[in-house]
Amino acid sequence: MSGAALTGWGAALPDKVVTNDDLAAYLDTSDQWIRERTGIRERHIGGTTTELAVDAARAALARAGLQPADIDLVVLSTTTPDQMVPGNSAEISARLGTAGGAMDVNAACAGFVYALVAAHGLLGRGIEKALVIGSDTLSRITDWDDRSTAVLFGDAAGAVVMEHTGGADQLLGWDLGVDGTARRFLYCDHGSTLYMEGREVFRRAVRAVVSSCEKTLQRAGVDGSQVALCVPHQANIRIIEAANERLGIPMDRTAIALDRTGNTSSASVPLALAEAADEGRVADGDLVLLCGFGAGMTWSSAVLRWGK
Ligand code: ACO
Repeated sequence: MSGAALTGWGAALPDKVVTNDDLAAYLDTSDQWIRERTGIRERHIGGTTTELAVDAARAALARAGLQPADIDLVVLSTTTPDQMVPGNSAEISARLGTAGGAMDVNAACAGFVYALVAAHGLLGRGIEKALVIGSDTLSRITDWDDRSTAVLFGDAAGAVVMEHTGGADQLLGWDLGVDGTARRFLYCDHGSTLYMEGREVFRRAVRAVVSSCEKTLQRAGVDGSQVALCVPHQANIRIIEAANERLGIPMDRTAIALDRTGNTSSASVPLALAEAADEGRVADGDLVLLCGFGAGMTWSSAVLRWGK
């Protein structure tokens, strides 16, 4: 038997915390509106996509008991690379000292699971150990004077190590999707800031997450009631509650970080996963459902069996 397993995890947040009250001090908004409509209380702002990625990756490598030179593939999910060329993963690889190749993936806030599935597809086919990172600094493409977006985003990174093993494959099912005709609802052109039609994105997000997770669960041969931990993209608590209700997954089996981080795009799933794992909320053999959605519109989901 030959498969793949997730063996390490880690996260990184910049030190600077911006509370809802900090935003309400200069924007026409309030802590109450932001908490009730989104679930967000505060977010971390600062750092670069590279710095945050390197910190999260080091934590994931330490957890896996590996050295950077053991890694033969880095896949970075980001929508805010520090530069256009070269790919951001090149500098991250150099700073860490990883071996093998490195590439960037951009599928917006659904990107981390895209990156995970891409890395998984290469494990056992020339790649033995992959570092999968989600890192974003959305604060750099946010219009801080636009209350409809400024209250939503934060900066962070999360990372996992996936290894080829001699055991069963622990990625039991996945689904990736995109509707490129929906660009107009959420986009950022070169040199500009994020534009979003929040209500429409909300509606489409719930639909996309539910249908993607249903496909993934079916492919894995399990249902929502068997999921021990759901790790959704952390954009809005109301989106998570609406999707979970349809999927039959209770909120007490769901990882939530958005109250302290806001929407951190590619980082949100690995960050919430790392927090939940560090808190001991998953045990070997547990089923973990990851899912995301974002600009594109893109969506993604995956079911993992925790442990080797
Ligand atoms: N403070 C106070 N009032 C506000 C604010 C604010 N920060 N922002 C908007 N409002 C007002 C609006 O102007 C509107 O006023 P009106 O009724 O007088 O017109 C009212 O609040 C309601 O606005 P809605 O947009 O209908 O509010 P909604 O309940 O939909 O919440 C939100 C808005 C939070 C943006 C929600 O729609 C949402 O979370 N959408 C999804 C966003 C998302 O998930 N994006 C993910 C992808 S991100 C990526 O890929 C990079």
